[in-house]
Amino acid sequence: MAKFEDQLKGISQREFISEKMSLVFHELNKKFNFIDRISIALYDNQCDTLTTYIHCSKDASPLNHYQAKLGDSKSLQQIACSGEPRIINDMSVYDTVKKHHSIQIKKGGFKSSYTYPIYNRGLFYGFIFINSGQLNAFSDEVLAVMSPLAHLIAAFTIIEFSDIQTLTATVTTALEMTHQRDPETGEHLSRMARYSRLIALEVASKYQMDDEAIEHIFLFAPLHDVGKISIPDSILLKPGRLDETEFEQMKSHCARGLEIINKILSNYKLDHRPHINILKNIVRHHHEKINGSGYPDGLAGNAIPIEARIVAVADVFDALTSKRPYKEAWSNQNAYAELERLSGEELDEDCVNALLKDKHEIEQIQLRFQEDYIG
Ligand code: C2E
Ligand code: SIN
Ligand code: SIN
Ligand code: FE
Ligand code: FE
Repeated sequence: MAKFEDQLKGISQREFISEKMSLVFHELNKKFNFIDRISIALYDNQCDTLTTYIHCSKDASPLNHYQAKLGDSKSLQQIACSGEPRIINDMSVYDTVKKHHSIQIKKGGFKSSYTYPIYNRGLFYGFIFINSGQLNAFSDEVLAVMSPLAHLIAAFTIIEFSDIQTLTATVTTALEMTHQRDPETGEHLSRMARYSRLIALEVASKYQMDDEAIEHIFLFAPLHDVGKISIPDSILLKPGRLDETEFEQMKSHCARGLEIINKILSNYKLDHRPHINILKNIVRHHHEKINGSGYPDGLAGNAIPIEARIVAVADVFDALTSKRPYKEAWSNQNAYAELERLSGEELDEDCVNALLKDKHEIEQIQLRFQEDYIG
């Protein structure tokens, strides 16, 4: 009698979701060698964007570091609304669709596609795509094996995100409870997270960041100022310039922020969560400067973690273009000029260039997340 062999042995010990998915992909590929690719794209419901997150394929993926509007694809929208997977066994039906995504998928030579919308408690998280270079790849026999695996990948994705939702909700609640009025609005955090993602997508290849890292920078960026919990309102909301002692106290928000994060991670048993160093580096190092004159550690150049350099540019740009208790909002033109001036000295040159490359997208983000300033 054949001995039972667990095909997905060790899946729950794998740390990264990309590793879990890779195990599933190889298992599927072993059984059905015509299955060429699995990928996950995550949905940002506030911007209506889909961003590639993880992919496994036999060849290099044609859809790396990729972003698109869900609204641009009627068929994907339909799948998201229906909540049901869609199976296409002949992609040539879609020949007329001129969308980047479909074009890229076709360049990859895919003829059959399976699209699974990920849902949790009524919220849409994104898609799992499974593709094959063969026509009619997804027979009932294949689907019988594949469908439960798609559910499994969806479940792992949801677990990963509920961790981050817990972290974000904890930090937001703590900030709301310690400060009556926060000069940093939710819109600031929404904008700077999206500027951060824009920059990260652009510099990803140079710094060998995968889509999973990019997504974590986006998700963790809004937590950068958690250390403000410990800064008194008299400083945080001061209408004028800070004096030297006040600024010294303000500077403590970076080191204090990391202490708070470490406490939260330990309380929720998330210390060993994958990519958690991205969060720690952002919190501690978002005020370091390229020339070494920043705080808290005076790190210079490449010694500053790339995620902190990215978030620094996003944070400064949004601080400049926003009203603060101590300053009026600058125009975009003036803020662009200021970023150019700081580039290479205080701010990372690649990151500044990456942001300034797509001014149209900056304006879209500003339009989408306008200040709702109750003065
Ligand atoms: P913030 O207001 O969110 O500003 C974040 C960062 O944006 C600042 O970090 C700085 O690097 C940049 N930034 C903001 N405004 C300007 C500007 O007019 N010119 C230039 N070149 N850069 C600007 P920084 O300086 O480390 O300050 C950290 C935080 O300390 C600020 O966050 C703010 O909350 C507080 N802060 C700094 N200066 C003052 C001040 O004069 N008065 C008050 N009330 N708070 C201040
Ligand atoms: C699309 O419908 O726009 C893309 C096709 C697919 O990957 O499922
Ligand atoms: C902010 O980032 O907008 C406030 C405080 C800080 O950046 O350190
Ligand atoms: Fe800060
Ligand atoms: Fe900020």
